This record gives sequence, structure tokens and C-alpha cells, in this order.
Amino acid sequence: MKRRQFLIQSSLAAMTAIASHQLPSQSMPIYKQYKSYKSWESDNTFLQGINAPVFEEVEITNLKISGNIPEELQGMYVRNGPNPMFKPSSYNYPIEGDGMLHGVYFNNGEVSYKNRWIQTRGLAYEMFEGKELKELKFKNYANTNIISHGDKLLALYEIGLPYEVNKNLETIGKWDFNHQLEQAMTAHPKIDTHTGELHFYRYSFFNTPYLHYYVADSNNKIIRELPIEIPQPTMIHDMAITENYIIFFNCPLVFSMTDARNNNIPFVWQQEQGTTIILVDRHDFERQPTYLKTNAFWTWHFLNSFETDNQLFIDFIAYPTIQSESNWESMLTHQSNLRRLTINLETHQMDFEDLDDRFVELPTLNQNYLGKAYQFGYTPYYDSELSSRKKIPNLSPSLIQYDLVNKTNKIHQFKPGCYGGEAAFIPSTKGQSELDGYVVTFVYNENTNTSDFVIIDPRNFESEPIATVHLPVRVPGGFHGNWISNV
Ligand SMILES: [Fe+2]
Repeated sequence: MKRRQFLIQSSLAAMTAIASHQLPSQSMPIYKQYKSYKSWESDNTFLQGINAPVFEEVEITNLKISGNIPEELQGMYVRNGPNPMFKPSSYNYPIEGDGMLHGVYFNNGEVSYKNRWIQTRGLAYEMFEGKELKELKFKNYANTNIISHGDKLLALYEIGLPYEVNKNLETIGKWDFNHQLEQAMTAHPKIDTHTGELHFYRYSFFNTPYLHYYVADSNNKIIRELPIEIPQPTMIHDMAITENYIIFFNCPLVFSMTDARNNNIPFVWQQEQGTTIILVDRHDFERQPTYLKTNAFWTWHFLNSFETDNQLFIDFIAYPTIQSESNWESMLTHQSNLRRLTINLETHQMDFEDLDDRFVELPTLNQNYLGKAYQFGYTPYYDSELSSRKKIPNLSPSLIQYDLVNKTNKIHQFKPGCYGGEAAFIPSTKGQSELDGYVVTFVYNENTNTSDFVIIDPRNFESEPIATVHLPVRVPGGFHGNWISNV
């Protein structure tokens, strides 16, 4: 059968798979929509178990709930992550894989779930051809994060422009801030909850200056732009923000055209270059940024940063170097931990302190405390012994709640065979304290091959979730998600 003919027949088969039916019992989940795509299997360790992609797009209402959903939870939690539609000939985790959004909707105690691929231009080409197109260099997978700002919901990938989606997770198209943004936008912008401003950056491989910092107002109009000189094009995955500073860690992961041409990860680790801390004055763009050099280390993510007196505190997840190979052995030898950098703003003396030695990633906090003195942070704990035994990376059997003031922590342990991901903190609309709210995450159950969505009380972090939404489907491991109120 010719490919085009096959595609047409596949599309027809997919169309007929769309079903809308009521099940007899209201206690059963109702599949409002179901669309199945051609499945495949891979021996790549990042495409198995919890990380294996799903091949169905579904909408399921009337989900089974254990416990009680808090009344004030009105809105949606949505999370992004890689979910390659076509079998890849090679797979570089965590860079590649078509973005898929997973949304959990809360409406007066009723809970529904929906997942959708982000219909990027690259994915459209591949759907037309019915296979992976390896020649698509620098494909924008839109797979890393999803944020709500102004009237936009944006799926983000740091080497491409954002893709706008609607609250039904349907793709609208690329968003370039009305032609104000070129090329790309970080997947980790920061929203100042007081001003409503969106702070972000883009890095460039080809044009100097290689780094640009932007501020957009609450209507997504870019109102400030600052080019920042850095010596080489480097990958910068996240930024930190305080009342007066924007902070970049320029780690020596340097873009290499040779490696890009050879189809490998297009970056080279240059240990001898060290890591440079860049402090940008948020309010005075005429002032030159401060560049502080230190020994090389790598970070993907910041937990938070804040200022007191003449000190800057920056909490982040530290790696000795970047994980250079996309395999689980490499991941196990490149473990990360929570670290604090304290900078004296007068003398520029830097002091690093390990706040914990456990392997953690994907740190989050109550966003109302972003950039301010804070007490609590949340991370999945990655059990490397378990991952090693099962030969599956990123197995997180528990969440950690760090108390950074008292230097203590609490553990929320999932049931045996259950693994969580990044936690989101949903601030309570009623409360004033940092612990007033809910900690939520998807939890994959390897015994049932389905996922739950759990709602944990931050004040009773070690206790059972106050509510669990049971999905009849699996949500693969992913990256970043956010809560959006009053959808
Ligand atoms: Fe990230």
C-alpha cells in the first residue's frame, strides 16, 4: 500500500475510532471522546514504563474520586511533556519528543481529564508523511512547560517560539507577542504576581548578543528588552528573579554546529570555562550586568531566590556536570541535589551550601512567594537504587517538602509501585500563609498501568492525600505544569 493511501486509510480509521457514548452507571468514567493513533514500542530506556508515550487522545468525564475535592478548586491543572507520535530513530531525553498536554478540570466537584498533542508545524509535517522526519533540525517540540498569562495559554520550548493553545487544549498557533519576539522564548518565564509582568529571555545560537532579557506587561505587550553579552552561545534553561534582580547561571554547555550537523546533542560541555553568575538590575537597564565567575557546574532549575539586607540567596538544583548521554547509567552518575548560593552584594563573595544530598529535580513552590523570602519548597525524590534495579529512569516514589528556614523536611510517600512527578502548589483563595493551599501531582501506578491525580494538604504533608482523582488511563512522565483558576 502506498504511504499516502495508508495515511488516508489510517485517518479514516482514526475518525471512526472517535466515539461518544454514555455508560449506564454514573459512577463510571464517561469517555466523551476517544481517538487512537498507531502505536509502537522502543527499547530506548526513556520510552519505556512510566516514560512510554501514549497513543490515544481522550476526554473523560465523571472521574472516580476518593476523598473530597476542596470546594475552592475551580479551574484546571495542565502539564506538558514529551510524547513522540512517531517512533524516533534516536531519542535525546529531555530535549526531544512531541509535546502532549494533560489537563485535569475541576468544576463544582466534578472532575474531567483531557489530553492532546500540541499541533506544532514539525508534527504536522510528520503526520503528513506518517513517520519521523529526522532532517527536521531544531524542531520546536513545544514540550516543556505550559503557562497562563494575560489571555494566552502558551506551550513552551526554549529553542522555538511559544505555541498558543486554548483551554480545550486545541492548538491555535505560534505566538510571537505581535511580532515583538524573534526566534525563541525560554520555557521558564517568571510571572511577577504583583505587577502581572512576565519576565523571560531567549538565547540564540547564531547571532550576538546570544542572550536577550524581556519584560511583557499583563496584556502580553513587550515593554522592555535588554541584550546581555555572553561570550559563546550556551544553553540556559531557567532564570531566577528577586525584587531587584534577574539572575542567570551561564553554565559551560556550549552550542556546537558540528555536533548539530552530526545529529547528536548539539552542545559540548566545556568544564574549563567555569560557570558565570549574571546579575541583571531589574529596574535600571542602563546599569551593566554583574558577571561573577565560579567553578563549572550545571543546573536545569531554580527553586527560588530572594534578597535580605545586602545578600542574595539563590536556591537551585545542582549537578556537577551536564548529563552527556541519554541513558539511565549516565543519569545515575549525574545526580543532582538542592543547593543554596549566597552572594554578598557588596563584596560579591559567593558561598555554596548543599541543603540536602538526595537526588531531586523539578523544584516548585507557592508562586506567591516567588522572588521573596520563603520557607517551603517541593521536589520529587528520585530513587536511584530503584531506578537501577528496574532500569527505568526518573522513578520518584515520594515527594519532599523542604522547610528551608528550619532546615528540615517531610516526605509524602506514594503507595508501592506508584511514582510521582513535578508537584504544583495551588494557593488557597482564602488563606494568607505559605502553607495555605494544595500540593498536586500526577502519580503513575505500575500495578494498574493507570495514573491518579493527587491533592495533598501541605500542612499534613506526610498524610494520605485529601483527594485522589482516579484516571482510567496512563499519564506518562513529563516536565512542567501549572494551575489555572476559573477556566
Ligand atoms: Fe525545565
